[in-house]
Amino acid sequence: MKIAIIGGTGVCNSFFMDKNENIELNTPYGKVQLTKGYRGDKEIFFLERHSKGHKLIPSKVNYKGNIYALKSLNVDYIISTAAVGGINNCNVGDFIILNDFIDFTKNRSCTFFDDVDSGVVHVDMTEPYCKTLRAMLIEAFQYAKAPLVKNGTYVCTEGPRFETPAEISMYKKLGADVVGMTNVPEVILARESSLCYATVALVTNYASGISKTNLTHKEVSENMLKMINTLTNAFSYLIDHATIDKLCTCNHALDELNTLK
Ligand code: HPA
Repeated sequence: MKIAIIGGTGVCNSFFMDKNENIELNTPYGKVQLTKGYRGDKEIFFLERHSKGHKLIPSKVNYKGNIYALKSLNVDYIISTAAVGGINNCNVGDFIILNDFIDFTKNRSCTFFDDVDSGVVHVDMTEPYCKTLRAMLIEAFQYAKAPLVKNGTYVCTEGPRFETPAEISMYKKLGADVVGMTNVPEVILARESSLCYATVALVTNYASGISKTNLTHKEVSENMLKMINTLTNAFSYLIDHATIDKLCTCNHALDELNTLK
């Protein structure tokens, strides 16, 4: 079995795997660097979303290259982490297994099917995150005794600036629970690739206007650091117990397209 982990802000170490080896893949979207390792008999691929050393801002992350690379490696599951600001129904330090998102990005391509030869594809987003993997994440974070919220709606902003209080107030009215800058288009591209993908959001701060202080990247990084041990324990448990009895339909995401061809 092959499991990929996409590490977001503050998650750049793959403590849960051994025999680590750096690999580089060529994709139509440029080179992608990953770390390959093992945990027991499972092959693990660890990918830093913002590239090694956190060099790319959210608008410039190579989302397509990253997902294309993981698809070409034939991974069974992709687990991603996302630092988020808390808006509703959560506290700093919570781990949230996302179940829906709202897209407020404006400056990034959100589909692999964007040229004349690829045809027009409208992929279903009724259940954007893989339900098999979400159930595995919930079990793993319960095992790790994490402060866990089992559902949450993520609003994705363009960044790299943090939001204004008026924006957060609007997102709250629209139903968002947490805010971040990177889950879109990653979740969409994973579904377009028929891959099982889910995200654990780590609440590193209260969102703008909810927080009593101004927001800083330092606050995000420092709170993230406090959550890393629990994250590592949960991921280790998940990898050790992962099976491929899939209840989801992620690998049928493009069935309609294929029947039209
Ligand atoms: N807003 C957007 N992205 C974030 C935040 C936030 O408050 N915290 C961590 N990532």
